[in-house]
Amino acid sequence: MDLGIAGKRALVIGGSQGLGLSVCERLAQEGVNLLIFARDAARLAATAESLRAAHGVSVEVCSGDITSAADVDRLGAQSEALGDVQILVLNTPRPPSPMRDFLDETEQDRWDQAYQQQLHGALLILRRITPLLVASGWGRVVAITSASIKQPMVRHALSTIFRAGVQAALKHLALELAHTGVTVNAIAPATVITPTFSTFHNLEERIKAVPMKRVGQPEELAAMVAFLASVHSGFMTGENLQLDGGQTRALV
Ligand SMILES: NC(=O)c1ccc[n+]([C@@H]2O[C@H](COP(=O)([O-])OP(=O)(O)OC[C@H]3O[C@@H](n4cnc5c(N)ncnc54)[C@H](OP(=O)(O)O)[C@@H]3O)[C@@H](O)[C@H]2O)c1
Repeated sequence: MDLGIAGKRALVIGGSQGLGLSVCERLAQEGVNLLIFARDAARLAATAESLRAAHGVSVEVCSGDITSAADVDRLGAQSEALGDVQILVLNTPRPPSPMRDFLDETEQDRWDQAYQQQLHGALLILRRITPLLVASGWGRVVAITSASIKQPMVRHALSTIFRAGVQAALKHLALELAHTGVTVNAIAPATVITPTFSTFHNLEERIKAVPMKRVGQPEELAAMVAFLASVHSGFMTGENLQLDGGQTRALV
């Protein structure tokens, strides 16, 4: 199926490894040009080089921290200068490790870090980048949240609480932008394997909770992002799709 987005440019936040990198790979396969944002400049440069070599698309990078308003503003200026960013993939950093029960989260630093990285950073990106999509007359915002905002998972308070805020922001934005040609949707994953995920969680324990009795692959998430970023998802906005092998036991 032709996704109808070849030649457009996607800005992928946290696109230098893990889920974000899989998204970059998949979009590049579809002929989508990229702008990748993350902190580590050397890893960004290596990622960009390998994507260019494999897929022949244009790949620009911006090194910065999602929690820094100045860095996000610089990212916005670079996006404006490129002039062709029409897809935003909002993939925020992981919550602080190790994950703990709510009442065991006694360190204010961890609360501040989780808020800054997951909610504050997401709001900075949405506020700076989404107007550029609106100005272009067509756009797709695809966010990666967490299944924990639909069914809270044990020891996930620092993820659930702030990502629920992100989901609220996405819903507001979806409704406000529905008439503009810009859609805003999210994917709520759980137990999708990445190198970092494996260091965070006991895989055997996690798989026990998955009705499909396996982990998800990053390529499965990337395929959903590609669909939501495509021309074919145009009548869908404000949606949050589960990707969790059946883990979330909610009716809708
Ligand atoms: N896998 C799952 O099943 C699952 C489920 C629910 C939610 N999630 C969420 O999905 C997201 C991605 O997971 P992942 O395993 O792919 O993570 P990851 O491997 O840690 O990758 C994170 C990416 O974000 C960048 N990044 C980290 N901190 C940043 C910052 N402060 N500013 C800008 N960029 C930053 C990293 O590059 P630099 O370090 O160079 O900045 C990297 O490119 C996480 O938020 C995770 O909690 C995943």
